Amino acid sequence: MLRIESLTYHPAVTPQPILKNITLELATNQVGLIVGQSGSGKSTLLELLAGFTQWQSGDIHWFSQELTSDHLQQLSGLVFQFPERHFCGSTILEELRLGHLALEGDRITSVLSTVGLGHLNCDTPPHFLSGGQQRRLALAVQLLRQPSLLLLDEPTAGLDWSMRRQILEVLKQLKKQWTVIVVSHEPEELLSVSDRAWRLTQGELKELAAPAPIRE
Ligand SMILES: Nc1ncnc2c1ncn2[C@@H]1O[C@H](COP(=O)(O)OP(=O)(O)OP(=O)(O)O)[C@@H](O)[C@H]1O
Ligand SMILES: [Mg+2]
Repeated sequence: MLRIESLTYHPAVTPQPILKNITLELATNQVGLIVGQSGSGKSTLLELLAGFTQWQSGDIHWFSQELTSDHLQQLSGLVFQFPERHFCGSTILEELRLGHLALEGDRITSVLSTVGLGHLNCDTPPHFLSGGQQRRLALAVQLLRQPSLLLLDEPTAGLDWSMRRQILEVLKQLKKQWTVIVVSHEPEELLSVSDRAWRLTQGELKELAAPAPIRE
């Protein structure tokens, strides 16, 4: 269970806070969707939940534990918008191994199959993959870290219809094991896989009416 209470983020350089009094609760193994226009603060909120920035007031709990940004770095795995731009490995295997001193082969096989890439040869360069496959590889990279909270920034942006469908299917699988927060400015299709949804408007968060039940 993630609980955020009255969270405010106001860097010294901005006249107004970027996040104002944010409150939300998300149960384990649920997908929470945050929608909002460009500049509303979506990525800033995810970066804060990933432990990259320090907030000014309010608190964040994971079950009964109050979290610092150090805790959040351990707890969360953030997949950036357009993650394929940040690939560094020359093969799928290298990309997955980055940052891990030792990694068992069966863990790699397991995360690749979770994201639907189990059939690929691990010696394939990441840039040979389709756009949807690259997004799924970026997800696999985060899943290897075994975060409790998975944060996805615009996971379907820039993908065509069939690749967006693939990402939605993967999201349905992910929520069996992970608690997920997704942000997007094109929410329609993501609503179908979300348990709760909020709208962020100029740094203020309001819950939307309950999304439709998930269609299997
Ligand atoms: N460290 C910072 N210092 C100053 N301004 C910042 C900082 N971080 C974000 N901002 C500003 O905060 C606002 C929210 O930005 P953010 O990137 O979170 O929006 P977004 O909802 O993710 O937008 P998009 O849909 O375009 O990705 C913007 O006005 C941005 O310029
Ligand atoms: Mg953004």
